[in-house]
Amino acid sequence: MSENLIKKIEELKKQRNAVILVHNYQKQEVRDIADFSGDSLELSRKASQTNADVIVFCGVHFMAETASILSPDKKVLLPDIESGCPMADMITRDQLVQFKKENKGATVVTYINSSAAVKAETDICCTSSNAINVVRSISNDKIIFCPDRNLGSYTQKKLNKKLILWQGFCPTHMRMLPEHVIEQKKKHPDAEVLVHPECMPQTVELADQVLSTTGILNYVAQSKQKEFIIGTENEIAYELQRKYPDKKFYPVSDLAVCPNMKKNTLEKVLWVLQEMKNEIKVPEDIRVKAYLPIKRMLEIKP
Ligand code: 13P
Ligand code: SF4
Repeated sequence: MSENLIKKIEELKKQRNAVILVHNYQKQEVRDIADFSGDSLELSRKASQTNADVIVFCGVHFMAETASILSPDKKVLLPDIESGCPMADMITRDQLVQFKKENKGATVVTYINSSAAVKAETDICCTSSNAINVVRSISNDKIIFCPDRNLGSYTQKKLNKKLILWQGFCPTHMRMLPEHVIEQKKKHPDAEVLVHPECMPQTVELADQVLSTTGILNYVAQSKQKEFIIGTENEIAYELQRKYPDKKFYPVSDLAVCPNMKKNTLEKVLWVLQEMKNEIKVPEDIRVKAYLPIKRMLEIKP
């Protein structure tokens, strides 16, 4: 059944000159058909460099929007139009405009997990893998960081620099409590703890390494360690276990699932390629403004 689906997807991909970009949290069946899979930063770079006419973006809405901002001449299709990011919805353009008025003169750093309209009111974007370098590049002492308060907390602690934090968060990462890490550490004392910076500060505090999704995958690839406690969406732990059957990976919490990321399926990928439906297009006046902070971010060395 899925062999048939994959064959049809491959045929249509050629016909349409399409490329399939896949975030690391997607289900295995979707990751298996990827032309490229990665974290938000890597996917943004790929979206800006591809020669394809069509980008099928298997991720959440803001990721497809970013691809469309970077490649406005391409058709960007999102297999499930409902796959949003609750953190990105925790700040609107109007709220950011008001926050800027309350914090006059501040430079605005916006996490890529945000809408195009919010990016349009931003000075520079960042992702989980470059937030520290992005904030370090700013000479202004007054910096708004939105919407993720946890990535902001982690960044300000690493740089010893006070940031004005918007109080957004990722519901999936907030499920990973410090007591879950302590429990896992008791069970597996030799395991190294790798967490995503979207986890709350008390959880991050217990980590050996704080990394983006690709950062976690790359860290394990070069490590001699045999056991790891993984503090991010559980697809990463499952993927690592498949890739390294001789090592052991323990999710911090079985509840760390992003339901939005799981909405994309092979059937929906085939459907959008057949019908050319679910196009994500940003209005041009917003796109040109949102492009600048993303471009500035891509110019920062990783
Ligand atoms: P990465 O940029 O690390 O892939 O993270 C994206 C994300 O949405 C994490 O929840
Ligand atoms: Fe958004 Fe969290 Fe899902 Fe990432 S894991 S897409 S931040 S809800």
